[in-house]
Amino acid sequence: MIVLLIGSGGREHALAYKIKQSSLLTKLYMAPGNPGTKKLGENIKLDISKHNGVIDFCLENKVELVVVGPEIPLVNGLANELRKNKILVFGPNKEAADIEGHKTFAKDLMKTYNIPSAGYQKYSSYEFNKANDYLLKCKYPVVLKADGLAAGKGVIICKDKDEAIKSLNEIFIEKIFGDAGNKLVIEEFMYGEEASIFAITDGTDFICLPSAQDHKRIGDNDTGKNTGGMGAYSPAPMVTDEILSQVRTTIIEPVLKALREENRTFVGCLYCGLMLTEEGPKVVEFNCRFGDPETQAVLPLIEGDFLNLLYTAAKGKLDAPDIKYSGGSSVCVIAASKGYPDEYKIGYEIKALDELKDVLCFFSGVKEDSSGKLITSGGRVLCITAVLKELNIKEAKDIAYKELSKISFENIYYRKDISDKAYINFY
Ligand code: AMP
Ligand code: GLY
Repeated sequence: MIVLLIGSGGREHALAYKIKQSSLLTKLYMAPGNPGTKKLGENIKLDISKHNGVIDFCLENKVELVVVGPEIPLVNGLANELRKNKILVFGPNKEAADIEGHKTFAKDLMKTYNIPSAGYQKYSSYEFNKANDYLLKCKYPVVLKADGLAAGKGVIICKDKDEAIKSLNEIFIEKIFGDAGNKLVIEEFMYGEEASIFAITDGTDFICLPSAQDHKRIGDNDTGKNTGGMGAYSPAPMVTDEILSQVRTTIIEPVLKALREENRTFVGCLYCGLMLTEEGPKVVEFNCRFGDPETQAVLPLIEGDFLNLLYTAAKGKLDAPDIKYSGGSSVCVIAASKGYPDEYKIGYEIKALDELKDVLCFFSGVKEDSSGKLITSGGRVLCITAVLKELNIKEAKDIAYKELSKISFENIYYRKDISDKAYINFY
């Protein structure tokens, strides 16, 4: 099978690593890919925002499956265009991707179809006064969420009225999230542990991959700003069989059915960001694609032909009985550029990658300079994943950090406590 994978981050590097293991694969193209994916297939220069160019490439190169990594092309309708041209694609049409692209849509859908999530209000920017009045009388903390895509930064948790009104001004008047903040969701704050579950679906049937827990804050002990994710581990012990079964019947089945009924059938990976509350699992957010960095922790734990899983889902007839998880564990830690998620410098040489032993290394913000040296090129730079055959998160953590300590680049920063929550709270 000739496959085109869209994207360039750590998530796509992990997807490429897993697709590469398939015996069905004859050729893997990545657009644009990164210096790590170059070793797994062929990186090609394609402007993925130009849908016609992607279609032409697929037709000329007889691509049999396109796998879309990031949300932006999905929300912008790349999958629609590909399907119109009879090119098979793993990833939802934009109508279904709205579940991530418009939080107001996702919240209204969950309310209509009784899918457990936080209570909410929604406002447009011309309703500033109404939103302000609501914030004067509501219960705190509250969570303000920009309606549109904001690279994981569109959520502000406000502990009191002053913070909330300041944030409301920033979103509606100062436009810190641009047009993504033309509408706003104000959500009640949920208490509990967070977990992520990926459902691979053909629109009706689905398979859940092993659960994971992301670490979104920049600092140890979940302090500081939200980031795209600083590390993850899998499986997440709080997602017991009983909880997973609740998630399947109260969240995933009904939301897929709701999307079908609304003529927005979702084909791809539905990312369920969950809060495990005392009242049961509730949805924090849905994403229309694999999570980053959870993918770097989850995929190495899956046995079976992953490409066949994506292919049969894309075909509309999920058929991957060999996909299974048989008890391993993994911890992935992101090495970032100091200063991220705010300002940071790039262009520093990454040293000692060849000294890594028994771990996987996925690139997020890594480039090759003209002399072939690997240099930093982003806020999140790379990810080290330790994978064990048995369930031992503590040992996987030790291996990941031992290996990560070998790597150096100027201004390297990483959290030291990825996965601690698993064994402090649950083992
Ligand atoms: P999101 O981008 O919607 O996943 O939100 C980013 C982070 O904000 C989540 O991972 C949670 O830690 C937190 N968060 C979002 N919504 C809520 C909520 N209603 N209650 C508590 N925490 C939340
Ligand atoms: N890890 C969170 C996300 O991918 O949105």
